[in-house]
Amino acid sequence: MKFSQVATCEWVGRFLRCTLHILLASFWFRKLSTMPGGSAVGTPNLLFRQLLEKESSTYTYLLADLSHPDKPAVIVDPVDRTVDRDVNLVKELGLKLVYAMNTHVHADHVTGTGLLKAKLPGVRSLISKASGAKADVYVEHGDRVQYGSLFLEVRATPGHTQGDVTYVSGEGPEQVSPRFAFTGDALLIRGCGRTDFQGGDADQLYKSVHSQIFSLPPETFLYPAHDYKGLMATTVGEEKLYNTRLTKSLEEFKTIMKNLNLAYPKMMDIAVPANLKCGIQDDVSPSAL
Ligand SMILES: [Fe+2]
Repeated sequence: MKFSQVATCEWVGRFLRCTLHILLASFWFRKLSTMPGGSAVGTPNLLFRQLLEKESSTYTYLLADLSHPDKPAVIVDPVDRTVDRDVNLVKELGLKLVYAMNTHVHADHVTGTGLLKAKLPGVRSLISKASGAKADVYVEHGDRVQYGSLFLEVRATPGHTQGDVTYVSGEGPEQVSPRFAFTGDALLIRGCGRTDFQGGDADQLYKSVHSQIFSLPPETFLYPAHDYKGLMATTVGEEKLYNTRLTKSLEEFKTIMKNLNLAYPKMMDIAVPANLKCGIQDDVSPSAL
């Protein structure tokens, strides 16, 4: 083989190797860009933010469809103390907040729903019908909460309270993959919410998590309403392996929950009555605005 032929072969080989690397890199870039595993990752049309309220260690989530001209957004589990931060973020990002929604009637903090409604006209409060709380929109198992072309599916997950729901990202060609879910207090990272007040029921919680959350694909990201150790997200697969309570048998789980001996929550008597009226703008004091 002549020198020129050897050189040509070498160049063709290099070209093919280079093309292969570019294709692989582009595949992994696309895959990573669809994983909402951090605080600001999403598909090209999903905006995803995880926000923290430090005193109650509550996570609030802001989602928006950026492909829609109005950038419609929803906020999950907002807290009254951090409403100004959330309003500023919504304004800076040019979003149109359509729903301020809760996973359940919280006992450890006052929801920011009423304040958000007052500060951002057009926002509607949303909670499950089974919660017994007042709101503009009530949802039930199987309903969809639409924002632009994206939606959250409502799954009833009672047991921590009677009205707990988990919001699961939609399934379909325009939706985010892997899916992700906001589990409220039904499932916490390596744990779960208590079941000794607000109509809590350990048997029911165990069945809710196993049938509605653990039935999702293992790669589904899970985002709880709280974490007290700095963890921010988990997956179905991870919790099915390492959740310290929900990996046990039903009887063992009920024994664990019965013997937690937790203190009465500090905010309970303030938070629960306030959150039962969470969507009522009239209840917001003008001094709070
Ligand atoms: Fe809770």
